[in-house]
Amino acid sequence: MSLLFKNLLKRGKINYFRTFLRPSITHCKCLSVRKFSDSRKKFVSFDEIQAQRRDEARRSLVVQVNSESSFSELYGYCSQYASINGIHHYKNFAEEHFMLIEFSSEDCMKDVLRSCCSHQKEHEVMALPSPFLWFRARSGKKMKLTVPSDKSLVVKNGNEVINEDKLRAELMTCSSVSEQIQLLYDRTVLNDIGVRLRYMVARQLEVVFNSLYSNIVVLPFGSSVNGFGRIGCDLDLVLTNELTEEMLDPGKRLVYQEKKCSSGVRPWQRHLELVAELLELRVAGAARVQRILHARVPIVKCAHELAGLDCDLCYGNLSGVHMSCLLRALGALDARARPLALAVRRWAAAARLTAPTPGRCVTNFPLTLMVLFFLQQRPGGGAVLPPVSALISRAGKEDIRIAEDNVNCTFLRDMNKLPPECYGQSQADLGTLLLQFFEFYAQFDFSEKAISVIEGKPIRKPNSLPLYIVNPLETALNVSRNVSYEECERLKTEVRNAAWQLEAGLEGEKSDDWGLIGLLENKASRGLKRLLRVGNSHRLVSVKDLFNDNGESDQEEGFKSKLQRLTKKTDSDVENGVNEMKASLEKDSSKINKNKKVNFKNSQVASEVFRIRRNKMI
Ligand code: CTP
Ligand code: MG
Repeated sequence: MSLLFKNLLKRGKINYFRTFLRPSITHCKCLSVRKFSDSRKKFVSFDEIQAQRRDEARRSLVVQVNSESSFSELYGYCSQYASINGIHHYKNFAEEHFMLIEFSSEDCMKDVLRSCCSHQKEHEVMALPSPFLWFRARSGKKMKLTVPSDKSLVVKNGNEVINEDKLRAELMTCSSVSEQIQLLYDRTVLNDIGVRLRYMVARQLEVVFNSLYSNIVVLPFGSSVNGFGRIGCDLDLVLTNELTEEMLDPGKRLVYQEKKCSSGVRPWQRHLELVAELLELRVAGAARVQRILHARVPIVKCAHELAGLDCDLCYGNLSGVHMSCLLRALGALDARARPLALAVRRWAAAARLTAPTPGRCVTNFPLTLMVLFFLQQRPGGGAVLPPVSALISRAGKEDIRIAEDNVNCTFLRDMNKLPPECYGQSQADLGTLLLQFFEFYAQFDFSEKAISVIEGKPIRKPNSLPLYIVNPLETALNVSRNVSYEECERLKTEVRNAAWQLEAGLEGEKSDDWGLIGLLENKASRGLKRLLRVGNSHRLVSVKDLFNDNGESDQEEGFKSKLQRLTKKTDSDVENGVNEMKASLEKDSSKINKNKKVNFKNSQVASEVFRIRRNKMI
């Protein structure tokens, strides 16, 4: 029996060992299949995962097909040119079908690319090399394509987001809040195909931009790679063009003539303008390109319609990548960290504490730091996570990283070097931790104290901003400086409500919104759902039943009395529910009206270039 296994048994952590491995299996198959002989290496570093994923993307292609049953024909066709490791199926926002094919080597993939052609019919479309392709229906004589009987899709509809009602029904069957949190995590965490696709988009941009810039690297960061992302999360990308030592070699005598950008303070702003143009004209799938170039960190936003993703692209922000590395390392140290953070992120979205667009409220990144900070507080008697200072003090030469503007991003990368007594010491289960999280922040002194994951304990606030969360890499910055007084007050109220709701649910019989269910229900639809629920069961009366009058007597019956009859609710229940529903509908409709005014700049150009008319696909 390996040393690690024995230690885990001794410390009663065998279950955690299993759940610890599960996320890594979904994230990175090849890296996580370990033999017991190499079990001394318990953690795989961010750099290793990144290198593995980038290599995988260089060996892969994404092919649009007619349906998942195109698998055999596509497999048979591509395996004539190259050996295939696996084919993964997914659908985009428009329900179009795609297959992500991983080949055994980059050379294999290049052989397939050499066999590709351009679309001949549309003269206004310029040919475009890219790892995104489509599979044309066979023309002419039939060729026999064979597929070995043991080959099938690795995954079908891999990026499907679980339906709310199905999730609710599954959560109802759990026996504890801990089980609910784990189930929510297993059903919603960003999976293997999601990560693969994100690296494919990065690869596609690298291919296009490399024709204009030497040494361009495009790296995903944020929730796509830090372990706290959910299926369907946005893709944050950073573009860098750092020159390698080889390219700066003073011994080489022939040097490129270079072009200096004359735009003064922020030359990259102009280059990002060009990047935006390229996205519109030369990147298959990129649409609705928006330029936000005067922000502190200028970004270009776009949708990637072939990958079914929304992307934010910035330049040179390598500290964002190092931050993702830090979050990934902390999240990997204890199997409870990521499920807890995902539950909190989901609760915050349901309580409308976070919003998809940045504004005056807290966003997912600072919220995740709040979860990590809580886990550093020795909940249940021992520390679940170490303070970041423990990683900084143990950093070696190989961990030195200096990002843009001389930001020191040096901290221990290899978590195998961290003594096991620094983390995972509490035995508290996920349900207990969630309740303690809400109680901790219900009592936190937000007016005087700042949250610092470096120290792992509250520190004095350096200014009077309502919410202060120290940026662990740039300690002079507050990552929640945008949060208004009102939003901070709402956060305090909602954590108190959540603590009360969760604690109340622990006593007595399980209601139809017990445990996590009540916390995850969207406030806007909560009134309506509560109203439509039959008695105390979680079954909902269908809206069709309410409006579809079958019998004569039904036509006489008013909406409220029909609702009361179908749901077995009292008069006042129905009255309250209808009022709550009206209020939330009014709020939503004013939002929708506001949203209607948003016009995407240049969306027309992008969609024209992207939406090429095609002949039949298979
Ligand atoms: N980031 C940072 N400092 C900030 C804000 C963001 O370093 N003040 C970095 C973090 O690495 C963060 C990433 O930028 O993870 C992306 O930010 P954002 O998209 O806001 O957060 P995500 O963690 O990606 O969460 P989401 O799923 O909501 O996109
Ligand atoms: Mg993000």
